[in-house]
Amino acid sequence: MKKVQTIFEQGGHKWLMIARDPDRAGDLIDTNEYLVAAGGESLLMDPGGSEIFPAVFSALATEFNPAQITALFASHQDPDIISSLSLWLDFKPALKCYVSWLWAGFIPHFGGRGDTFVPIPDPGMVIPLGDLELQAVAAHYLHSSGNFHLYDPKARVYFSGDVGAALLPPDLDGFFVTDFDRHIAHARAFHQRWMGSAPAKRNWCERVSKLPVDLMCPQHGAIYQGRDVERFINWFDELEVGVTSPV
Ligand SMILES: [Fe+2]
Ligand SMILES: [Fe+2]
Repeated sequence: MKKVQTIFEQGGHKWLMIARDPDRAGDLIDTNEYLVAAGGESLLMDPGGSEIFPAVFSALATEFNPAQITALFASHQDPDIISSLSLWLDFKPALKCYVSWLWAGFIPHFGGRGDTFVPIPDPGMVIPLGDLELQAVAAHYLHSSGNFHLYDPKARVYFSGDVGAALLPPDLDGFFVTDFDRHIAHARAFHQRWMGSAPAKRNWCERVSKLPVDLMCPQHGAIYQGRDVERFINWFDELEVGVTSPV
């Protein structure tokens, strides 16, 4: 079963990370799921693939009642992000799913009806949750053509989807980055291949470097905290990405 860890808590406002499934089939990429709860509402980010739904659901249920989830957020359309959608909707048909307008006609192939989806316009939007105003932050082409991150300004937590992802070896499986230089070696090839647009990357670095962020939480790998958030943005800003030659 996956593990669950509280990564932020202040009164009823909390963030949980669900990660590291020791029973995961070796041919599935490892994923992190995150939940933010406030004021009696909660939102699950990138709930994961259908194959891992039981592992995510049962792990979450050890710390939090899944019936209290009110919304899902899909950073983009990949199967490791949101192919579990129909299983979540079987559990709770009233769930809403926030996703880029670009994918609102594609993701229903994984499940859901028209009124399941809340399309996010290209510039982003405020997503209310309890007494919070979460921000869907545009991250188009990083890597998907319709791509959003989720920022919680009160907790100073930034969910970054595939940006910041690292494919870590078994001996580096901590929830948090502790040795940036060692960690980032496992992020380089992923970003070089998957992040297709240098201008989009530059624009994202410019915008996100201005946000106060204590924790940057990617969908794969470990969480960047404190100074490592700035280190990551600087590293990414200087990394050569995108189409430079035929593969
Ligand atoms: Fe992806
Ligand atoms: Fe991913």
